[in-house]
Amino acid sequence: MAVADVAGERGAMQEQRFDVWAAGDAYELYIGRWSRLVAERFLAWLGCGDGLRWLDVGCGTGALTATVIDRCRPRMVVGLDPSAGFLESARTALPASAGFAIADGQSLSVRDEAFDVVVSGLVLNFLAAPGAAVGEAARAVRPGGLVAAYVWDYAEGMAFLAHLRRLITQDRDAGLRPLFIAAGAGTVNTGVVDPLDEIAALAREFGLWFHADGAYGALGVLAEGAEPRAAGRGIWADIRM
Ligand SMILES: C[S@@+](CC[C@H](N)C(=O)[O-])C[C@H]1O[C@@H](n2cnc3c(N)ncnc32)[C@H](O)[C@@H]1O
Repeated sequence: MAVADVAGERGAMQEQRFDVWAAGDAYELYIGRWSRLVAERFLAWLGCGDGLRWLDVGCGTGALTATVIDRCRPRMVVGLDPSAGFLESARTALPASAGFAIADGQSLSVRDEAFDVVVSGLVLNFLAAPGAAVGEAARAVRPGGLVAAYVWDYAEGMAFLAHLRRLITQDRDAGLRPLFIAAGAGTVNTGVVDPLDEIAALAREFGLWFHADGAYGALGVLAEGAEPRAAGRGIWADIRM
């Protein structure tokens, strides 16, 4: 299936520089392997039949797209994402029958009603205009088609953040004054990369200092083309190595 078959009158999908999500391999280790588990449950929950035309918006390295192929025997499946690096990983890992193209989910270059199902996994919370992306998804499905998406439940579902919030609140209620939160940008011993942006938001909310131990992850802040999301680009006041 050629992606051009579903490209709409807005013209060819434009390649654009998108440096927040870039390195497919790093993403796979960090989130992709978990995305696959979520994708399994999501598709089981949707319960769609075989032979449908699927669009995966913000497909990244193809975690959800691959699961659609495995579970849903699609007639056609297209993955769109702004990241050329992620799409390269997806193309390498998935069968050639899947079509991939660079696109912004908020302004899709696909024809009206070209798909039966539009899905999106772990994307909407990163968009400046998530409502526009939902509108575009609704435009891209046929009447009676399905639009479905999932994101992390930062407030309740990310258990460790909820736990951290609880501890801070408990300390404050007990008359204590928490000073700072410490996290890791990429620990050398276990490889853990903490979600620095989310933890930084919590620190901001409670007016706490935020210390992130750089380790290997700090290099991501400095290295062009590395996985800056993992390194929380934009939240660092000072980096020492
Ligand atoms: C957490 S990843 C999720 C990737 C994949 N759906 C998964 O479940 O593993 C977020 C994805 O959103 C994509 N993204 C960011 N901005 C986007 C936009 N404006 N339109 C579409 N996708 C976008 C990123 O490139 C990245 O692939």
